[in-house]
Amino acid sequence: MDFQTVIYTKEEGAAIVQLNRPEVLNAFNEEVLRELEMVADDVVRDDEVKVVVIKGNETAFAAGADIKNFVSYSPRDAHQYISQVQVSMGKLLGVGKPTIASIAGYALGGGCELALACDFRIAADTAHFGLPEINLGIIPGGGGTQRLTRLIGEAKTKQLIMLGEIFDAQSAYELGLVNFLVPLPDLEEATRKLAKKLCRKPPLAIRTAKELIQLSYDVDIYNGLMMEKEKFAYLFSTEDQTEGMKAFLEGRKATFTGR
Ligand code: COA
Repeated sequence: MDFQTVIYTKEEGAAIVQLNRPEVLNAFNEEVLRELEMVADDVVRDDEVKVVVIKGNETAFAAGADIKNFVSYSPRDAHQYISQVQVSMGKLLGVGKPTIASIAGYALGGGCELALACDFRIAADTAHFGLPEINLGIIPGGGGTQRLTRLIGEAKTKQLIMLGEIFDAQSAYELGLVNFLVPLPDLEEATRKLAKKLCRKPPLAIRTAKELIQLSYDVDIYNGLMMEKEKFAYLFSTEDQTEGMKAFLEGRKATFTGR
């Protein structure tokens, strides 16, 4: 696969996507979005990939949409662009494997929303977050009004979106936006450790848990619990369930195969 705006590698069960437009602090354009979709397709197809890591560089995870492109957009262009954003992020969310945003530097606008579309957010203490779109006369369109509200609640989301201020990693951690906060020099190793831990988990149970948690946004508790019950029973048909319980009883670590 030939990528222009991201660097895509694989390492010990992890697909690693590095956003790579440093000259504009990794701001998104249509090419970035297309390439993120290509990554999502590849991750779905490759059984060797157990976890996805998305990162930027020390200055920026991503500073959002490329504002230079926005200047000449018509409402139709804006609709097309933001639809593509939502499709790309939706595809990443839908890969059925855990996704980790590993964040140093700025995660602003669409960059913050990309992190929100991941399952885990691990941040360096140097990271900065924000949804500053309001200051450009627009709103977040990549899930910011929806995913952030679900994650941290209405009051804080209104504060972040309507004030559009940039805030530091410690505040992001206290808000519950970030799962793990580490010193910058430890970010890479802490991300690798998290990815490795997730790689060792049973893939079918992980996928099922992820799908059910996602589903909880959209269904009432009765139907959610019914689905949970059915999926719980389904996992007893997997080899990983047999292995997990056998390993426990034998006092050893389980080796899961995803079957
Ligand atoms: N789109 C396009 N270019 C961007 C960008 C974006 N979202 N964010 C940063 N850049 C570019 C800058 O224009 C600058 O380019 P130049 O060197 O050709 O002038 C370069 O990246 C470095 O950014 P700069 O603003 O000089 O760095 P800084 O350290 O002073 O400020 C930010 C960093 C992130 C606070 C500032 O760049 C910013 O506010 N960016 C926009 C964030 C935003 O509103 N995102 C939501 C978009 S919908």
